[in-house]
Amino acid sequence: MTYVLDDPGRRASLDPGGMAELVVRTADFLREGWELGVRAALPEGSSPSHLLVLGMGGSGIGGDLLRSLLYDRVRFPVTVVKDYTLPGWVGPEAVVFACSYSGDTEETLAAYGAARAAGAACVAVTSGGRLAQRAQEDGVPLVRIPSGLPPRAALGYLLGPMLGALQRWGWVEGLEEEVTEAEALLRSLAAEWGPEVPTAHNPTKQLARSLVGRVPVVYAASRLSEPAALRWKTQLNENSKVYATWNVFPELNHNETVGWALAGQPEGLLEVVVLRDPEDAPRLVRRVEITREVALGGAAGVHQVHARGTRRLSRLLSLVLFGDLVSVYLAYLNEVDPTPVAVIDELKRRLGS
Ligand code: PA5
Repeated sequence: MTYVLDDPGRRASLDPGGMAELVVRTADFLREGWELGVRAALPEGSSPSHLLVLGMGGSGIGGDLLRSLLYDRVRFPVTVVKDYTLPGWVGPEAVVFACSYSGDTEETLAAYGAARAAGAACVAVTSGGRLAQRAQEDGVPLVRIPSGLPPRAALGYLLGPMLGALQRWGWVEGLEEEVTEAEALLRSLAAEWGPEVPTAHNPTKQLARSLVGRVPVVYAASRLSEPAALRWKTQLNENSKVYATWNVFPELNHNETVGWALAGQPEGLLEVVVLRDPEDAPRLVRRVEITREVALGGAAGVHQVHARGTRRLSRLLSLVLFGDLVSVYLAYLNEVDPTPVAVIDELKRRLGS
């Protein structure tokens, strides 16, 4: 097994689209996305009634991360919409980021149309497609990001412009420092965990090995890490082509924990990864410990991944980067190409026909 992960030739043949290389460049994409947002032609605006992010899959996760980042730092609610329709309260005081990497995702296009109809102030973030076309026709500010990437590899390009725009509007303190720290941290972590670092010294490769043949269960120890857990699950689905599941403390203690009575059988089916953050409240840390003792027991392997960095964005993105690399290495171990997502393409094709 180790051979695949530590052999550059094998890695290259399993990853012709270069997914590992794109993951390693997350810091570059975040910086470039931030610059695009800061420089975008945006309307001036006072703090909105609500901030909405519209986006599906790889284009929606940036919204989830933003919501977690801003949770207790802004006086307006942040809502992520992954659907065709909008909540009834959306109106002219709302600000909406419509995010679609391709620009052709029907749910996002429909929700964008609904946001326009409600009179909300929209900003489109896309590499092209119908969203770019409609934004231009509508006179809506357009942040055009580079094309040619798998959407999930463009996370920095999707999150960065929203952070840059928020900086321009001055609605959130300290974002520039956060992006600067995150960029530097992501670069150093990519060097620490990247494909060239052998398994013996690489915790991301070691964790990928533990997940072979198992169903990964990714738990966020607290609300802050919740979108990172979701990202882990979706990257494991799309890159590694495995079924995976996720949940968050403390809510999972009120239902999912009971299911562990049987879920661990047959033994060796599930493997748990708990995402930890230094600011996890002591009560939550205690919950993780007790849950391990009373529910998970010997039913599954349990791994803990600790966020790195100081500021919140760095910590969140350090968890994301760890999981992204695990998902690519697990793809190699599963001998699948991480890039294609044939089922998603087929679904879109059939829905479009
Ligand atoms: O990772 C993927 O390819 C998907 O999750 C897409 O991001 C999702 O289908 C939405 O497409 P788009 O990002 O082009 O709006």
